[in-house]
Amino acid sequence: MTARIIDGNALSARVRGEIAERAAALTARGVQPCLAVILVGENPASAVYVRNKVSACEKAGIRSLRLDYAADVAPAEVMAKLAELNADPAVHGILVQLPLPPQFDEAAVLEAISVTKDVDGFHAENVGRLSQNQEAFLPCTPHGVMKMFEAEGVTLAGAEAVVIGRSNIVGKPMAMLLTNAGATVTVCHSKTRDLLFHTRRADILVAAIGKPRFVTGDMIKPGATVIDVGINRLPDGKLCGDVDFESSKDVAGLITPVPGGVGPMTITMLLENTVISADRAAR
Ligand code: GUN
Repeated sequence: MTARIIDGNALSARVRGEIAERAAALTARGVQPCLAVILVGENPASAVYVRNKVSACEKAGIRSLRLDYAADVAPAEVMAKLAELNADPAVHGILVQLPLPPQFDEAAVLEAISVTKDVDGFHAENVGRLSQNQEAFLPCTPHGVMKMFEAEGVTLAGAEAVVIGRSNIVGKPMAMLLTNAGATVTVCHSKTRDLLFHTRRADILVAAIGKPRFVTGDMIKPGATVIDVGINRLPDGKLCGDVDFESSKDVAGLITPVPGGVGPMTITMLLENTVISADRAAR
């Protein structure tokens, strides 16, 4: 069997088209959606992500404010900027690119962003709301994965879902979204005793580990839906995911590629959250 490949670029393009229409309608009413993006330091991967986010905003008719700080900036300076952005009615979304340099208390920075402008969905209040299945800004990567399930008609209620990785950005919120959707969820991580036992019984397998080609075909239940959240750069400069695509594509029923899978959906959901926030401000 050869898996059907989920085309994240195509789905992304469709959803971004709808987002651009909503942004244009809001702009016509005098409320152009606006996202502020803060980047501290020179982490090359973060710089690429931020550049892609700003460029995606531009293409969707969303205004962006990019704010760059040196790696040794005093946290108080960034906190003062956040207070200013929180109070600015023309700004609808605020994002601080992670990771931050060691002088920062990351949790304190995320909580300094207004809950109503927290388009990354990382503020403790939004995380708490998600855990209680209340309306909240959803973290963009797991939200993008949920959109893929919806677009592909993947049944979640009653499914055995296994998430590998327990990060605050992907693994934990992914597990919560799947739980809210009625899946039976297992979260695996570096301390899991028998990973194979779990992955081989997964109807839905989400890999968010950060290790190139970690998941191989022999770990996958035939016909499973396999979602690869990893973006790893190999020594030759090429990108690859956390799933070994070659050995997995003949076992899985549905699979996401890297690049062109989850990656574009993450940015799409960021744009959607920014438009949702602007829409609320326009009411
Ligand atoms: N670093 C890695 N992924 C993300 C993300 O989705 N948002 C932010 N702000 N930082 C990140």
